[in-house]
Amino acid sequence: MRVLGIETSCDETGIAIYDSRQGLLGHALYSQAGLHAAYGGVVPELASRDHVHKTLPLIRQVMAESGTNAKDINGIAYTAGPGLMGALLVGAAIGRSLAWAWNIPAVAIHHMEGHLLAPMLDNPAPDFPFVALLVSGGHTLLITVEGIGRYEMLGNTLDDAAGEAFDKTAKLLGLGYPGGPELAALAEQGDPRRFTFPRPMTNRPGLDFSFSGLKTFAFNTLQEHRDDPHARADIARAFQEAVVDTLAIKCRRALQQTGLKRLVVAGGVSANSALRERLERIGAEHHAQVFYPRPAFCTDNGAMIAYAGYRRLQGGQQEPLLINARARWPLETLSAMENTVN
Ligand code: KG4
Ligand code: ZN
Repeated sequence: MRVLGIETSCDETGIAIYDSRQGLLGHALYSQAGLHAAYGGVVPELASRDHVHKTLPLIRQVMAESGTNAKDINGIAYTAGPGLMGALLVGAAIGRSLAWAWNIPAVAIHHMEGHLLAPMLDNPAPDFPFVALLVSGGHTLLITVEGIGRYEMLGNTLDDAAGEAFDKTAKLLGLGYPGGPELAALAEQGDPRRFTFPRPMTNRPGLDFSFSGLKTFAFNTLQEHRDDPHARADIARAFQEAVVDTLAIKCRRALQQTGLKRLVVAGGVSANSALRERLERIGAEHHAQVFYPRPAFCTDNGAMIAYAGYRRLQGGQQEPLLINARARWPLETLSAMENTVN
């Protein structure tokens, strides 16, 4: 089975073709970062308009590069939420219309299910069941995963998502957009012993997160050290350590609580190397294997959507001819697939 994947939930147009026998045949990504940089964040209307311009040419490009004709494609997967409504509707309308024209099925994919399954595009792929930490610009979730669509929520953020906290703190440190990778680079130059930031919600039981206080802590520390040229890097370092440590403490708890021996980490923040190093150590301590997507598939991409679509089409998912998009969409409400053994 060959599936075309379309991702347009935010500020990246991602297109890919996944083949059940040959694996990923091709993928391409167009980032709108340059378009939104001047505004310090994503401008939804500009995002939608840019997806309109980029989606079809990128589909043509990936089909040509992978030697795929329309008649070779057996299904289309498009991100239907959560995300920016206008941006989602572009991918949904194009995906559903192409599927109708080509007389093949289309499936509406949950963006975070895409992130969650991204490590399965590489070897070794994680077997079910596992604990997953999903850390992106919009979400911070700890879940157990028994199969496709079999998700149980363990923890969620009460306010900002981990990536959002990175982006907001980066902005107040005067860094560009998107701030996560820039803050991580600045943190490399920082002194880890200079400032200690709190580890929110770690001194009480439970697996929920809260990251908005860290940004305020960073702001106040910066105000106190306005005239110190080294302060920014030291603050970036202390902030990153606090986020990484907090995520790691909760992952350790989740492994202990569930007794599971596999941890999957995905979403944009899973590209962070300090987080990867720390979680490797937690995994080793608990004799648990830790899985990540390859770096290019940590952040938004079409490959994860094509793969999720393949798993759902293979599981027999069928949908009416509806152009379906949801700005908000709880992950745990997805339909479970019967046929989800690895
Ligand atoms: O998954 P993603 O591409 O989009 C969403 O679904 O939100 O995640 C983007 C988020 C942004 O907040 C970005 O700053 C963050 O991931 N990010 C990072 C790194 N790379 C991307 N945060 C920390 N360190 C990184 N290396
Ligand atoms: Zn994402």
